[in-house]
Amino acid sequence: MTQFTFDMPSIIRTKRDGGVLSDDAIDWVIDAYTHGRVAEAQMSALLMAIFLRGMTNGEIARWTAAMVDSGERLDFSDLRRSDAPGKPLALVDKHSTGGVGDKITIPLVPVVMACGGAVPQAAGRGLGHTGGTLDKLEAIPGFTAEISKAQIRQQLCELGAAIFAAGELAPADRKIYALRDVTATTESLPLIASSVMSKKIAEGTRALVLDSKVGSGAFLKTEAESRELARTMVELGTAHGVRTRALLTDMNTPLGRTVGNAVEVAESLEVLAGGGPDDVVELTLALAREMCDVAGLDGVDPAETLRDGTAMDRFRALVAAQGGDPDAALPLGAHSETVSAPCGGTMGDIDAMAVGLAVWRLGAGRSAPGEQVQFGAGMRIHRRPGEPVAAGEPLFTLYTDTPERLAGAVSELDGAWSVGDEPPARRPLIIDRITG
Ligand code: URA
Repeated sequence: MTQFTFDMPSIIRTKRDGGVLSDDAIDWVIDAYTHGRVAEAQMSALLMAIFLRGMTNGEIARWTAAMVDSGERLDFSDLRRSDAPGKPLALVDKHSTGGVGDKITIPLVPVVMACGGAVPQAAGRGLGHTGGTLDKLEAIPGFTAEISKAQIRQQLCELGAAIFAAGELAPADRKIYALRDVTATTESLPLIASSVMSKKIAEGTRALVLDSKVGSGAFLKTEAESRELARTMVELGTAHGVRTRALLTDMNTPLGRTVGNAVEVAESLEVLAGGGPDDVVELTLALAREMCDVAGLDGVDPAETLRDGTAMDRFRALVAAQGGDPDAALPLGAHSETVSAPCGGTMGDIDAMAVGLAVWRLGAGRSAPGEQVQFGAGMRIHRRPGEPVAAGEPLFTLYTDTPERLAGAVSELDGAWSVGDEPPARRPLIIDRITG
């Protein structure tokens, strides 16, 4: 019997010309690329064709399933809580579609741990102008996300969370994610939906809350696109047996007062200590409430875990379990430059995309696959939109270990902020909630 086979030029041509890829063609591409039988140049061309032409819902579903099948799928249904023998874990996770200053996972995971949840978080690295949870957490001296399956299982039972590199989960996503990052093919609904959901389906969570970003710092800028992305992801999760819901949240302005790697960890610690910027606290608690609800954790108050210090205790235990020193000083770039206010008034909107690009230029992100990020690279935002400003006051301080990066980063901020007489229009942080 002759086995029907595919070839990349025909598949690329089909998508380039607006056609629909068959299930078998999708399965073949994902398998062949994962196993090194498709050249990077060919996959880059296909990703660009998908970026330009899109995919049908049927193609997205099959592409996602093929990415899940490219590796193993974890199963924690046999695990029981060590503090309540016989009780199954309330498995629940969160994922964001990518933003600027989006450090929410760092305070959120310990809040949900303290509420009795178990979070198996397969986290990612920076993508394009957005930061990644792993790059941020690895700024903590000693912290590692490369942990074994046995350790993930043990942490889930004993602590209530593990934050790990996806590793053998959805390896197709690991390769495609890295390729998208350097081929300008990130901002694509089918590629974002399949990337997020393949990891989340494979990681073994039973419930999931998505944070679908809207605005200049998001990959998809408009509310309509972000809503469509959220709906697509909720449907994918539901079809794979994961109880999934989403919040649409504003990403026109960076979250909080820090953007970068270690600086975002430091701000997360402020939140865990009961302080921190209002928007970071609001979003952390909104997502925590959704996670507790979808996981069936009744009668818990996420805000109380920040007030009484239990979330901070959980964070310290999690960091220590993964080799990190929760008391170690966090790195800060050795070189800095400050942008000051030319006049007094009120801080206007700050463009999240420009800030994300500036911080990426400082060395917090990558411009080639596998590049080492600078943990100390980042930015402090001294005045948030709507806050009063006096002439000459610092507005932004930029940090890097490589001073030649400062000029380019500062110039990314040109036209990205203003100081005026009127406060900027206020937008809600949480725009909508999408359920299955
Ligand atoms: N997060 C992911 O895991 N993938 C994307 O494509 C965007 C955000």
